[in-house]
Amino acid sequence: MKKKAGRARRKRDTSRLKSEGDLNLSGQRQQWLHRNIDSKTRRLLAEDEKFFLRQSLSTPCLNVLKRCDGLYLEDLQGRRYMDFHGNNVHQVGFKNPRVIAAIKAQLDELPFCTRRYTNVPAIRLANKVAELAPGNLNKVLFAPGGTSAMGMALKLARAATGRFKTVSMWDSFHGASLDAISVGGEAIFRQDAGPLLPGSEHVPPPDPSQCPFSCGASCSLQCARYVEYVLEKEGDVAAVIAETVRSTPYIPPADYWKTIRAACDRHGALLILDEIPHCLGRTGKMFTCEHYDVVPDMLVIGKGLGGGVFPLAALIAREDLDIVPEGALGHYTHEKNPVACAAGLATIECLERDGLVENARNLGVQALDRIKDMAWRHALIGGGRGLGLLLGIELIKNRKTGQRACEEAEEVMYRALEKGLSFKVSMGNVLTLTPPLTISQAQMDRALDIIEACIQSE
Ligand SMILES: Cc1ncc(COP(=O)(O)O)c(C=O)c1O
Repeated sequence: MKKKAGRARRKRDTSRLKSEGDLNLSGQRQQWLHRNIDSKTRRLLAEDEKFFLRQSLSTPCLNVLKRCDGLYLEDLQGRRYMDFHGNNVHQVGFKNPRVIAAIKAQLDELPFCTRRYTNVPAIRLANKVAELAPGNLNKVLFAPGGTSAMGMALKLARAATGRFKTVSMWDSFHGASLDAISVGGEAIFRQDAGPLLPGSEHVPPPDPSQCPFSCGASCSLQCARYVEYVLEKEGDVAAVIAETVRSTPYIPPADYWKTIRAACDRHGALLILDEIPHCLGRTGKMFTCEHYDVVPDMLVIGKGLGGGVFPLAALIAREDLDIVPEGALGHYTHEKNPVACAAGLATIECLERDGLVENARNLGVQALDRIKDMAWRHALIGGGRGLGLLLGIELIKNRKTGQRACEEAEEVMYRALEKGLSFKVSMGNVLTLTPPLTISQAQMDRALDIIEACIQSE
């Protein structure tokens, strides 16, 4: 009886489920569908829901897409949307011609690589990734997705330390499998999941707006020092696992990672940084940890590594962690998929040749300035934050209380969609903007104009 009541209570309170993204069962979603979706698309959406298992954040779906190109998505009704969401796979833009050409050429030559063999694109991509990664992160394992790469990192940490405990952050996301949600901290994935991995300790993330240490407007590093407190009390933690910056986004202060790196070193814990969504330039550096001048023991990347086409992720480990030649860390069927690796190589080539990392850095600074300026003009905007082209606009009901403006954020999101701009809302009230790194100043201005107009009409 008690358990049922608990579940019913959780179902009513959806705010704690919104950390990862906007929910797909809201009244506002229904109204948007009613206003914007024609009968043909409606029939397809119904068919999709009939055949796919329903789940929060995805099925039932919002709309049916027909094509994508560069910054744009196009739906079946021929409407185009600037995609400031893109699941963070579209650093080089959708259907990037160089990536598509590399994939087509590889398909004609060697579309798959049976285990026991290797292939030139896989070797070249591993070499390139190791060359780009900071410090002695020189050994690579590919996996067909970020979650699997995180799983490999967890296994390697256990093998390397002989310990099994982890310290990770509340509200973090590292993938949807049982091991990943054990170290992840989001209610939507953990609720009703049953027993998770033992020894998965959680600490508060460096998010001043939710800080249990009441650090005020900016992080005072008490949460970083608390990580050391937990490492000391537990005494036998294998690894600290975290996103270098959180997608929501919150951006830890300059000394945050140095403090945690030093604590890990003092207590024999490895540092695993998850840069799956923001690797390869989004934050204005090839890897986000470079902003903090810190080298983790393992760096996990993914998403855009597959060029916005293939699921491809990589665990990049310290060279001396190559210690389990007789065990199996990954053993994934598509571990050295030549087509995915050709896409990865072409993606990195685009980033380097077209100066996309610099573009992300420069446009990000200008966009954040404009967002902060908008905050002066609109009471609904509590503030802006970001790094490179990972940007967030926080909407609040009241500047004094900081109460989150969740309904308003959802309304702004659906209004923006009607004006041709797609983005997601995270934590319930943060408009989260992650455009391709190929975006121009004019396109960025246009997107912020749309957001400002939508906020103005609130
Ligand atoms: C920070 C982070 N880690 C891990 C993952 C999981 O990656 P994948 O969906 O490729 O398994 C994601 C996906 O959104 C992510 O954002």
